[in-house]
Amino acid sequence: MNHELILVLDFGAQYNQLIARRVREANVYCEVVSCSITPEEVKARNPKGIIFTGGPSVVYETGAPTVDSGIFELGIPVLGICYGAQLIAHLNGGKVEAASQREYGKKELAVRPHAIFTHVPTQTTCWMSHTYHVSDLPVGYKTIASTDTCHNAAYANDVKRIYGFQYHPEVMHTPEGTRMLKNFLYEICNCSGDWKMSSLMEESIAGLRAQIGDRKVLCALSGGVDSSVAAMLIHRAVGKQLTCVFVDNGLLRKDEARLVVEVFGHQFDLNLIAVDAREQFMDKLAGITEPEAKRKAIGETFIRVFEQESKKLGDIELLVQGTIYPDVIESGAGHSAVIKSHHNVGGLPDNMTFTGIIEPLRNLFKDEVRALGRELGLPSHVVDRQPFPGPGLGIRVIGEVTEDKLEILREADWVFRDEIAKSGLDKEIWQYFAVLTGIRTVGVMGDERTYSYTIGLRGVTSVDGMTADWARIPHDVLERISNRIVNEVKHVNRIVYDITSKPPATIEWE
Ligand code: XMP
Repeated sequence: MNHELILVLDFGAQYNQLIARRVREANVYCEVVSCSITPEEVKARNPKGIIFTGGPSVVYETGAPTVDSGIFELGIPVLGICYGAQLIAHLNGGKVEAASQREYGKKELAVRPHAIFTHVPTQTTCWMSHTYHVSDLPVGYKTIASTDTCHNAAYANDVKRIYGFQYHPEVMHTPEGTRMLKNFLYEICNCSGDWKMSSLMEESIAGLRAQIGDRKVLCALSGGVDSSVAAMLIHRAVGKQLTCVFVDNGLLRKDEARLVVEVFGHQFDLNLIAVDAREQFMDKLAGITEPEAKRKAIGETFIRVFEQESKKLGDIELLVQGTIYPDVIESGAGHSAVIKSHHNVGGLPDNMTFTGIIEPLRNLFKDEVRALGRELGLPSHVVDRQPFPGPGLGIRVIGEVTEDKLEILREADWVFRDEIAKSGLDKEIWQYFAVLTGIRTVGVMGDERTYSYTIGLRGVTSVDGMTADWARIPHDVLERISNRIVNEVKHVNRIVYDITSKPPATIEWE
């Protein structure tokens, strides 16, 4: 692969892959690497430019992630974002201090003429999220943009081609951010833009062929977007060396098992084995109420089932997983904090018999995975499915998971999905599902007192699952859903709608 390359050095920001993704969207290939990379290693990769991400640390505290200053001497353009900008200033003799107040949210940005601001209006908006700022620039550096509270909101050293943005150009709340990043790539680093999604597909396929050789591969196919795209990619790479295992873990939505077998077993030419492991999962989940313990139990049981299947198939060594980037970051990669153990990452037991795990989508966001799926020729009803978590309904039954509760949830969830589809909202709402809360409340049906479950409905809009807003489902649609659930689903007498965004909540309840 001989594409122009941008290296993104990771200092632990939750959103650092967003930067990588914006670069890829601008048609430049890009990789996120650890900030411990040496100048020699950087030189060997011959990047056109380097971007330092943000991060939660304070530059002058012990243990804060840093970088070898030799990187500034390579003659390769560097752009620091937030923490990255502070670190550049700190390492080059500038001063970083606590700001008089924490700056969070949209700020007006006054921009001076500079190549990095080509076609950016002189007054624009930027997204700030910081407590510290660069109070004194190093010698040879100048201010190129300011807000009323942050003088050095952007700075430049044009001789050394080193730049810093205190704000976040990668988020949507900085409307000119994409333009600024593009300017860094095209005006400063002189990139030509020689990369596109189809290159990713071809290169992934070539890379997978080289990695897998003539070995056999086992793929965990759930029928969700991620594992379907991963399976199709591997299938393109090594054809019948791939066997897909679909596990019915009893935690699936209504009708899902049948649909998966129909689509992948019959419509596509994949080796597919469907395993009924419902009992094994229910046994393992008995008595567990704590969400992380449930996720771990489900993740581990998955692996055990795969191992059993691979033994039957003659000890397949390689396991494919449809892990995507938000799963990795929220399970605590690099310097980031653990939010949840996504079952296909944090839930992996140490003593697995597979010698290798292949995760071809590990660096991609959901919408990139969908674009790749389309490139691979997967139909819309597969690639445009809403996301469904690996632990399935297991993390949507709050508290202990039992067959009875799963049945209630499955029916309620089905009604919700049916009504959303009928109202035509299924294209607008990113993800929508029912949760069986652990709460039972008193109601009245006919002349009888009831004491039954509360169903929580969750509908969110999102681009990549990293942040989300609650979906404004019209009241009449909510009313229909509520009426139908209490009428059609036994043991439910109350419906609530979740109106929290992410953050501070997550999309799933557990
Ligand atoms: P949260 O709840 O973390 O969810 O805001 C973000 C997105 O990820 C999905 N999700 C998972 N996906 N394994 C997965 O493959 C998991 O363990 C998992 N947990 C959450 C969730 O449905 C949402 O789309």
